[in-house]
Amino acid sequence: MSRRILVTSALPNANGSIHLGHLLEHIQTDIWVRFQRLRGNPTIYVCADDTHGTATMLKAEEEGITPEALIERVGLEHAKDFRGFLVEHDNYHSTHAIENKYYCELIYNRLQDRGLIFTREVEQLYDPERNIFLADRFVKGTCPKCGSEDQYGDNCEECSATYDAMDLKDPRSVISGATPILRISEHYFFDLPQYANMLATWLRSGAVQPEVANKLDEWLEAGLRPWDISRDAPYFGFLIPGTTDKYFYVWVDAPIGYMASFKHYVDARNELTFDEFWDAKNSTELHHFIGKDIINFHALLWPAMLDCAGFRKPTKIHVHGFVTVDGTKMSKSRGTFINASTYLEHLEPEYLRYYFAAKSNGTIDDIDINMIDFVQRVNSDLVGKVVNIASRCAGFLSKQFDGRLADTLHDEALWNSGTTVKDTIAAFYESGDTSKAMREITALADRTNQYIAQQEPWTKIKDPDKRDDVQAVCSQGINIFRLLVIYLKPVLPQMAMKAEAFLNVAPLTWADLATPLTNHTVNSFEPLFTRMDRKALELVVEASKEAEEVVAEGGVDRVTPAPNPSPQNPASETDGETMPTIGIEEFTRVELKVAKIIAAEAVADADKLIKLTLDVGDHERYVFSGIKAAYDPAALVGRLTVVVANLAPRKMRFGVSEGMVLAAGPGGDDIFLISPDDGAKPGMIVH
Ligand code: MSP
Ligand code: ZN
Repeated sequence: MSRRILVTSALPNANGSIHLGHLLEHIQTDIWVRFQRLRGNPTIYVCADDTHGTATMLKAEEEGITPEALIERVGLEHAKDFRGFLVEHDNYHSTHAIENKYYCELIYNRLQDRGLIFTREVEQLYDPERNIFLADRFVKGTCPKCGSEDQYGDNCEECSATYDAMDLKDPRSVISGATPILRISEHYFFDLPQYANMLATWLRSGAVQPEVANKLDEWLEAGLRPWDISRDAPYFGFLIPGTTDKYFYVWVDAPIGYMASFKHYVDARNELTFDEFWDAKNSTELHHFIGKDIINFHALLWPAMLDCAGFRKPTKIHVHGFVTVDGTKMSKSRGTFINASTYLEHLEPEYLRYYFAAKSNGTIDDIDINMIDFVQRVNSDLVGKVVNIASRCAGFLSKQFDGRLADTLHDEALWNSGTTVKDTIAAFYESGDTSKAMREITALADRTNQYIAQQEPWTKIKDPDKRDDVQAVCSQGINIFRLLVIYLKPVLPQMAMKAEAFLNVAPLTWADLATPLTNHTVNSFEPLFTRMDRKALELVVEASKEAEEVVAEGGVDRVTPAPNPSPQNPASETDGETMPTIGIEEFTRVELKVAKIIAAEAVADADKLIKLTLDVGDHERYVFSGIKAAYDPAALVGRLTVVVANLAPRKMRFGVSEGMVLAAGPGGDDIFLISPDDGAKPGMIVH
């Protein structure tokens, strides 16, 4: 019996563009949805823009337009970006919609009827110039723990401390610059602790991945707290019924937006009812795909609200990690904070779809896009392995046999090896471990290429007695290619469509794995996939570069002992002393790479600094190093050294330093640059 499934991706915020992070999520979801459909499970995929909250309000104000105008424009951009990546939402809605207002009020009223809403006074920072309460992100100040300046109100980017915005030293409003004052107001709360037992049971129903369940167990053990669900005016959102100046906190109406989008979808056609998917009694499934930063909203607040209001709870929440590029957080200054539209100006969507599939393993581990690996992987797996089979075989078939396939399979064992993996591949798709699915698929392509190489149709074709053999071998190749297309169809829908046209078949489904194509004529072969060009990827990075405001000022070089240990760099306080032991995991977070110094110049205004231009394999970068007293810049050119590649870039008086080179010694002219032996190449990882 087929399953009936409703699927969602988290609703992107309406105050920014779609970037690689959103794309990971929507591509993962879309692959899963297409896989379900391929297997014959009717699946509906809805999403929407998350439009409410202070950030939207302020952004609209900044642009001098209404929030409604802003979210309308952004909503269209987002939907277009996703279409460009072949992500097929059945409906892309907005949280600022009547359906959403309706379900917010309905759910709220039900919670209230059950006595789960209460009010309480809350003291919060307030901007006395703009007359607005300040969320943590809208307050900056000095970290109460390490003293770093210019830190947000919830945590410190320098020392990772988390704290209350009210504990910041010298706080100021990000909106007006004014010094915030404390103000009391009445907030509405949802009595979440009442649902602790229900949540504990639900979590054990297989609703989340094991590592997520562990995290949630910790939270449950620590004890749940009532959830603050209101925000004071001015706020862009829905008013709480019965109030005139209290709005639903954006995280209340955002998940309800899943319902609203679905409602909008069913209302536009007469096939389904809302209740079939949201009533607590039905056997349909509900799956949410989200990032690891929003687990608490989806696995605590949301199921509790649903349960309390008499709706069904999610069947499963699929949580993914964060996208990093070359081992570090996406960064505007490095050009690795890549927007969907910038990517699409230069590259094909299926490259990224395949790469994300090849890297996703169904856990919450972060997913790294390594620029070199990206290009290699796409070209070697898809062009070199998969498409290669079809292009090798199609030529002989169309030129010599009018595209006619043989009547029987030439190598039944190879065919069987291709069909028996189907359940394994299906299980990997189902659990989101597409990386293992892609490995199975490319292994089958490898076996097939080996088979063709052994059979040498290009030699056999010269012998008139072996014509049948050539037809049989090429037909076998095309048949395995067809299996590969079916397996890859969720990831590469466009390629699959072109392949179906070449194979001269109806849209392929999972059921087609059961029987080979014999006694059939294929069409002439058109290129299915173009090689990925590394230069085009470089253009994307170039076009994404924006000066990132890096606030830290000062030395980047551990080799130059700071005259006064700076609070920004607590490590320097322990220089010269025995360092505490660290685990291997901590060490492996430091990305060390071989770099070649391709230019070096003394910085005129600095006593100690030399500006180095480093070749780190796939790109060049600048590093300012405090080694002037020890080295003549000209003597450094051509030398190999080691760079800390994932050190956050730092803005100095003379420019941005993008890393740090390693050197030994106390400083001054007593400094020794670390160099690997000859033969090491720029970009190599140093272990
Ligand atoms: N609006 C909320 C979600 C509400 S869902 C009821 C939100 N929006 S977001 O735009 O900030 O993020 C949307 C999704 O993208 C989240 O699941 C988030 O985890 C994901 N990502 C945003 N940046 C990301 C990366 N750099 N990497 C991977 N995914 C990340 O949260
Ligand atoms: Zn700090």
